[in-house]
Amino acid sequence: MIDFFGGPFDPKGFRRLANFVFFPSVDSTNAVGRGLIDHAFAEEVELAPTVIAASSQSEGKGRRDRAWLSPEGGVYVTFVFRVPEEARLPQLPLAAGLWVSEALAAAAGCETRLKWPNDVLSGDRKLAGVLTEAKTRGEETHVAVGIGVNVLGGAGDFGPGATSAEREAGGAPSLPRVFDEICRACDRYLEAPGDARIVERWLSRSRHAPGAEMRVVAAEGSDAIVGEFAGLTDDGFLRLRTSGSEIVLATGEVGSW
Ligand code: BTN
Repeated sequence: MIDFFGGPFDPKGFRRLANFVFFPSVDSTNAVGRGLIDHAFAEEVELAPTVIAASSQSEGKGRRDRAWLSPEGGVYVTFVFRVPEEARLPQLPLAAGLWVSEALAAAAGCETRLKWPNDVLSGDRKLAGVLTEAKTRGEETHVAVGIGVNVLGGAGDFGPGATSAEREAGGAPSLPRVFDEICRACDRYLEAPGDARIVERWLSRSRHAPGAEMRVVAAEGSDAIVGEFAGLTDDGFLRLRTSGSEIVLATGEVGSW
């Protein structure tokens, strides 16, 4: 047992996740993850799947270059690994949202819904977010899949529009348990990414009902596209029905550096 998030965490029994690093506080677990990938590429060494976790972040980064408020009470974690051959890279952010949604149900009895592409919501409030960054060298792509989960605290502690598992579940979930469940979900995925049925499982937790109206801003500053939710492609891209035709949106999924 080792001490992660103020409690015992057992790093044994994982099939793929090999290294676990914990910081009481760090600038950004994704920044550490990107550094590891850069180092592995520069030195041409293998990087075993690695978990970087922190109790708080001073420069947490969200999607579209927004800041991610990261006080104590959250779980901040980045999974760093080489994308397995059987995996579909665009599905990864959806997979990560799913790991969180399933982990919160198992660890905290907290039921959440997934908003495309990878927000984890309770009602209309955000409980967790995912930032996936990727870098390719030759045939290999490595990713830093960063996840921030608001666990302990009131709704206001994590910024406007946010909520926490404690508030939604009506009790104080265990941070190490939430962390453990997310790690085990990632480990199961890495064990058999081709069999993970990500799109099917994601849809079973989707907050978008078939035919529901959606307004999607595909790129920062562009006009919203309005249409009806028509499901996801096999890659996890959004299918939107607009006046008789269907469009597929893939933007905002995986960033790079
Ligand atoms: C979003 O904007 O919804 C994505 C938020 C992702 C935040 C997580 S917290 C752990 C990791 N480190 C970061 O700096 N960002 C991600």
